[in-house]
Amino acid sequence: MDVFDAVRTVLAVRAFQDRKVPEEVVRKVVEAGRLTASSMNLQPWQFIVVEDREQLKALGAAVRTGPYIAQAAFAVAVAVEKKSTYAVSDASRAIQSMILTAWSEGVGSNWTGFLNLEGASKLLEIPEEYDLLAVVPFGYPAVVKDKGKKNRKSLAQVAHRGRFTRPYP
Ligand SMILES: Cc1cc2nc3c(=O)[nH]c(=O)nc-3n(C[C@H](O)[C@H](O)[C@H](O)COP(=O)(O)O)c2cc1C
Repeated sequence: MDVFDAVRTVLAVRAFQDRKVPEEVVRKVVEAGRLTASSMNLQPWQFIVVEDREQLKALGAAVRTGPYIAQAAFAVAVAVEKKSTYAVSDASRAIQSMILTAWSEGVGSNWTGFLNLEGASKLLEIPEEYDLLAVVPFGYPAVVKDKGKKNRKSLAQVAHRGRFTRPYP
C-alpha cells in the first residue's frame, strides 16, 4: 500500500473479527515500532505483545476507554521510560508506525488509553521506571467502514502559508 493511501484511508477500528492474525504480520507490526526514529535515537520504549485471550479480556476490563481490546487478535502495550523527556512523542510515532503497518496488511487497530492505565500497567507487570502510554488492539476489522471517509478539519482551517495569518492553499 502506498504510504499516503495508508494515511488517507486508515481509521480507528473498534470491532474485530474472531480471526487470528498470522505471526509474521504480528512480528512486522512490532518491528515497525522498533524501527521508528526517536529523539537522540534513545528508543525509550518497550512493546508488550499480548495474544492470550484471557489476558486480552483482562486488559479490556482494565482500560476504561478500550473495552474492545477483549475481542482483538492481539494487542501491543507501549511503555515509556519515565525519565525520558521525549518519550511520549517518540512512542507516539512508534504507535503510528505500527498502526499504518498493520493497516497496510488489512489489520485494523486503535490507540486506547493514555490516562488511567494504572490497572493495565499492573496486569502487564510494568516496572516502576516506566509509564504505560497506550494499549493498541489489532485485528481484522469486523465492520468495513468507508475507507478514507474522514471527519477532519479542512486544510483551510489548519494550514497556513508562510505565516499564521495567511491561509493555505
Ligand atoms: C492519543 C490518542 C488517544 C486515544 N485514546 C482513545 C481511547 O482511549 N479509546 C478509543 O476508543 N479511541 C482512542 N483514540 C482514537 C481517536 O478517538 C480516533 O483516532 C479519532 O476519533 C479519529 O478517528 P478516525 O481516524 O476513525 O476518524 C485515541 C487517539 C489518540 C491519538
